[in-house]
Amino acid sequence: MRNIAANLLVFKDAEAASGETAQRFICGALNAAARGESFFAAIPGGETPRRCFELLARPDLARVVPWDRVHIFFTDERCVPPDHRDSNYRQANELLLSQVPIPDSHVHRFLAETEPTLAAYRYEEEMRQEMGENPRFDLILLGMGGETHTASLFPHSPALHEESRLAVPNYVEKLRSYRLTLTYPVLNAARAVIVLVVGPEKAEALRLALRGEVNPEVHPVQGIQPTDGDLLWIVDRAAASGLIVG
Ligand code: 6PG
Repeated sequence: MRNIAANLLVFKDAEAASGETAQRFICGALNAAARGESFFAAIPGGETPRRCFELLARPDLARVVPWDRVHIFFTDERCVPPDHRDSNYRQANELLLSQVPIPDSHVHRFLAETEPTLAAYRYEEEMRQEMGENPRFDLILLGMGGETHTASLFPHSPALHEESRLAVPNYVEKLRSYRLTLTYPVLNAARAVIVLVVGPEKAEALRLALRGEVNPEVHPVQGIQPTDGDLLWIVDRAAASGLIVG
């Protein structure tokens, strides 16, 4: 079998893939704490990370995480208040952040209930305040949609062409609405990026992302190429089924 990609880890099922992702988050946080540093992570919304959040909140795992060193940002957000059912912050807060001893001031959410352009500027400012002029996340966790979007970087959307801003509002034609999203410049400046993809419904998208013609305009996840960091795909067998060659 051809070597698909050196940075692809295939797990038995979604549970195992989520477990690996949680372990990597924990190791990153422990390593940062051992160096006496903060651990800056960005997390996505959607269904995929839910299990990983639950695992990180499990008392036996939560206990080993130096939460006072951890800062959580979001890769993207829907333009809704924080208690809205579609809010990525709400989901992460319910499953993880409210369950662990992370200081409130270390949870950095988009003010998505405010005007989107202003919310994006404020978020950029907050990243710079916490991480300096050129923010580098220690770990960015991403999911991938069925048409290969990631964060809220959708095919053919304006944010794909952003070269300097770190966060922007992005009009998504098919949703007929704005999303707030981190951009390639900050996503690709990360020290480590994990793309977690599980389930048979993602098999074709994963095949296109890893084996299809390279064109981030059509397959935005392909634009995730850390310039000086590691990119790791953590997937389950069902999602990887389209990659198997004879
Ligand atoms: C979001 C995201 C988005 C997500 C993909 C996959 O807020 O929706 O951050 O990029 O990761 O759409 O979503 P699922 O995990 O629900 O398939």
